[in-house]
Amino acid sequence: MDCISVVLAAGEGTRMKSKKSKVLHEAAGLPILEWVLRAVRAVDTKKNILVLGRAIEEVKAVYGGGVLYAEQKERLGSGHAVMSARGHLEGFHGYTLIVAGDMPLLTGETITRLAEETQQGGYDCMLLSAELQNPFGYGRVIRNEAGDVTAIVEEKDATEQQRLIAEVNASCYCVKNDVLLKCLDRLEPKNAQNEYYLTDIVELINGDGGRVGAVTAADYRECMGVNDRAQLAEVSGILRGRINVAHMKNGVSILDPQATYIGPDVTIGQDTVVYPGVVLEGRCSIGGDAVLYPGSRIKDSTIGDKTTVQNSVMLDAKVGEGSTIGPYAYLRPGTEVGDHCRIGDFVEVKNSSIGDGTKVSHLTYIGDADFGKDINVGCGVVLVNYDGKGKYRSRVGDGAFIGCNTNLVSPVEVGEGAYIAAGATITEDVPPNSLAIARARQVNKTGWKDKREK
Ligand code: UD1
Ligand code: CA
Repeated sequence: MDCISVVLAAGEGTRMKSKKSKVLHEAAGLPILEWVLRAVRAVDTKKNILVLGRAIEEVKAVYGGGVLYAEQKERLGSGHAVMSARGHLEGFHGYTLIVAGDMPLLTGETITRLAEETQQGGYDCMLLSAELQNPFGYGRVIRNEAGDVTAIVEEKDATEQQRLIAEVNASCYCVKNDVLLKCLDRLEPKNAQNEYYLTDIVELINGDGGRVGAVTAADYRECMGVNDRAQLAEVSGILRGRINVAHMKNGVSILDPQATYIGPDVTIGQDTVVYPGVVLEGRCSIGGDAVLYPGSRIKDSTIGDKTTVQNSVMLDAKVGEGSTIGPYAYLRPGTEVGDHCRIGDFVEVKNSSIGDGTKVSHLTYIGDADFGKDINVGCGVVLVNYDGKGKYRSRVGDGAFIGCNTNLVSPVEVGEGAYIAAGATITEDVPPNSLAIARARQVNKTGWKDKREK
């Protein structure tokens, strides 16, 4: 189906009380606008036009060339907002989806259904409606005996009789573009708010002998708009609920879904258990039979099967299978940990690889280094990777043993199977299978205390 979309987002969003544009506020890990665009793209739109007001530069900085932009210079109503996009609409003869940019709960399935029913039913326009217990504030849907829609009446323009109607306009439309363009010219701001109402196209289409229908959302919440931060939190909770339920249906155990924050671009394997207070952000891939114990933030990272993570932070990091991370580990960007490794408490790793079976159990900093397999790193080891000007890289071979409280002053290479005595400051390469001792020899002065006191 030949479709384009217009997303209306020129509203001021004053009730957010924010320096940031309303549609860029995040709900469950994505900007509100991104949720709307993802729903719209489910219809395979040819192009997507964003109508923006003052926030246009701010939104461009985020979205770049992925969408088209139209600027609405004055806020004269939803109809005027669509008029502002006119340049992008002319010459197109398919269907145009028009959606308010602040309804992130709208799903791809619903908007697909709207588009399909518009086409299959031969309608000139269909809108999404919802039955609300309290329809106050919304535009009401007026239908005729045949069930077609003859008008949308805004709260402020409605008669007492019309205000009793529970079916409301959600602000999501599918309309033949040729019909839309013909109507836009004729919109007039003759109403209680002196605005160009987009909703007036319904009466215009009817007047021209065309047909308008309405598709009712299966879940009225899809129509919820975000106007303030309380609504943002509510909507975020609903989005998170959807994500968590999908994972649980796929065989993931989430002990307390209300306290678990999983973004929309996360995959999790079967029989993985997620404890409360886990935050999975960005693009993450978590294997099966893994356990994410409480209190971890994991972003843009990959975790293999049977790995456990506890009270740790992982950013743009990779961990293989059967490894143990934390408690209190910090894996920074560029970290790659292999299979059956241990990264224990207060260990920080950055831009480094750790081979299979290597154990870094406590109080260690590994930055800019490549560690081989089956290495034992003692407590309190530091990669001295920065001299105040440049960063340097070190390598440690398979099976090496790094004693406690060792400094490896980069760049340095520790050969396979080498041992480093505790307390060493290593500034030169260590050959394979040798022992390096790099500390002052201990001197015991017997009787020293008695001599001093004399
Ligand atoms: C609109 C509908 C109403 C519907 C309700 C659902 C109209 C006239 N009424 O009312 O029937 O029940 O949404 O939430 O459309 N916008 C612009 N530029 C403008 C004005 C609005 O871009 O000059 C955008 C807003 O950013 C928003 C959308 O259009 O995304 C709707 O505008 P809003 O002012 O929220 O309309 P409502 O009064 O809520
Ligand atoms: Ca609104």
